[in-house]
Amino acid sequence: MAGARSVDLCAVDEVPPGTMTMTWVDGTEPVLVANVEGAIRAVSGICTHEYVELDGGFLAGRTVTCLLHTSRFDLVTGKALDAPAYDALEVYPVTIAEGRVLIDLPG
Ligand code: FES
Repeated sequence: MAGARSVDLCAVDEVPPGTMTMTWVDGTEPVLVANVEGAIRAVSGICTHEYVELDGGFLAGRTVTCLLHTSRFDLVTGKALDAPAYDALEVYPVTIAEGRVLIDLPG
């Protein structure tokens, strides 16, 4: 990606299978990191319905459920699966390097 920068989100060990954690890029941009059946996924960390941090919700298989109105999002595609959320989460391609979870963001 032209002008992209690699951002170190957390250690792989911090996200065992079946768990998720919120990370903050530059201290301001929330990115949810989830371990979906052994594969690390990274998506924007705020529900697209209202401003609710998704790490307070529930992880089940490849979906996260928002705690406020229970919309589910697919952590692989970002797609909203239930109303009242309609817009998808942003999905960030993940690279694992030396035990760290990295994503590329525009520079
Ligand atoms: S705030 Fe997430 S579904 Fe409403």
